[in-house]
Amino acid sequence: MALRWKLLVSHLAVLIVGLLVASLSFRGVAVRATSSHMGGMMAGMMPGVFRGVQAAVSAGVQQAVLVGVGVAGVVAVVASLVVALWITRPLGHMADVARRIASGQYGQRVVYGAADEIGEFTGAFNDMAARLEATEKLRSELLATIAHELRTPLTNIEGYMEGLLDGVVRPEPQTYEMVRKEAGRLSRLVGDIQRLSRLEAGGERLEPRPVDAAVAVRGALEIIRSQFDQKNLVLVVDLTDRLAPVWVDGDKLQQVLLNLLANAHRYTPEGGSVSVRVQDSGSAIRFAVSDTGIGIPPADLPHIFERFYRVDKSRSSAGGGAGIGLAVVRSLIEQSAGTIGAESVPGEGTTVWFTLPKAAAGIAGGP
Ligand SMILES: Nc1ncnc2c1ncn2[C@@H]1O[C@H](COP(=O)(O)OP(=O)(O)OP(=O)(O)O)[C@@H](O)[C@H]1O
Ligand SMILES: [Mg+2]
Repeated sequence: MALRWKLLVSHLAVLIVGLLVASLSFRGVAVRATSSHMGGMMAGMMPGVFRGVQAAVSAGVQQAVLVGVGVAGVVAVVASLVVALWITRPLGHMADVARRIASGQYGQRVVYGAADEIGEFTGAFNDMAARLEATEKLRSELLATIAHELRTPLTNIEGYMEGLLDGVVRPEPQTYEMVRKEAGRLSRLVGDIQRLSRLEAGGERLEPRPVDAAVAVRGALEIIRSQFDQKNLVLVVDLTDRLAPVWVDGDKLQQVLLNLLANAHRYTPEGGSVSVRVQDSGSAIRFAVSDTGIGIPPADLPHIFERFYRVDKSRSSAGGGAGIGLAVVRSLIEQSAGTIGAESVPGEGTTVWFTLPKAAAGIAGGP
């Protein structure tokens, strides 16, 4: 049954019950009142006259009720139509927009001005549509980027192989090494994509436990120190405070630190310096990796945590990364109930920071 009919039926039902009750009780009351009022007065009158007065009162009440039914019935029909229109029109519009979105027109939105419950609903509907649009855009961009990232090493491998077959490229160890390097790039990229999709699907299980921040930082530095030495980069570590343990998966914390240190290493020219600072910040511990590298322009800064986002789009993947590292880092930190951010001045340097809950807070808030 359409909403407008349901509303009409409910209005009419209320009306009929109300009038029935009113008419019955009013009739009873009126007849009783007439009898008691006129009983004494007309004691000497003929009983026929008395009954006639009673019948007239009763008929008057009936007439009044009929007029009431008529007027209230018309009002009920009009009211139920107006209310039904108020509700069904935006709902119909919303259904229309939903169908258009389903057919691929992701830019469609519901227009509704009033700040009532329907307004709240259309607001939530529009938010959902906006998210859907953003996800869809990201998905198509992602496919294009993945295709592009895969094509470069594949084209190179194809080129070397054709060169070898035609005799243009000599079968030397360097040639094979180049092919191996390109294949390595391919498998790294595929591995990164797999890691990212697993992580975003919530497939990578985190096993948080209390972790000593200082031990985690020193562990990561041990792994990467030789690369810094090779590039003549100074490593400064600020771990002065005695810090409470953090509530995190230790392996993932190391992965985060290594990713940030790898970025600092990659984007800081020789002779620069990189510092790692860990501080207490209330209920959390704050980690920051700062460098004196090339920096990030303000327009790019809000996007660096997005998948495949790289400031220098033209840079070959051989020199830089695929733009996945920080997306993985953000996902890990957010899954660990932390926050993350970055500050940068182009030409001067970059700081990427993140916080993690202290073990006590993590345990209290955890399952
Ligand atoms: N410390 C930094 N200094 C300057 N630019 C940075 C720094 N860290 C990140 N960026 C910029 O942010 C982009 C995204 O970083 P991200 O770590 O996600 O990707 P990547 O390092 O290019 O590749 P990957 O980490 O996947 O190997 C980088 O391409 C770079 O342009
Ligand atoms: Mg990186």
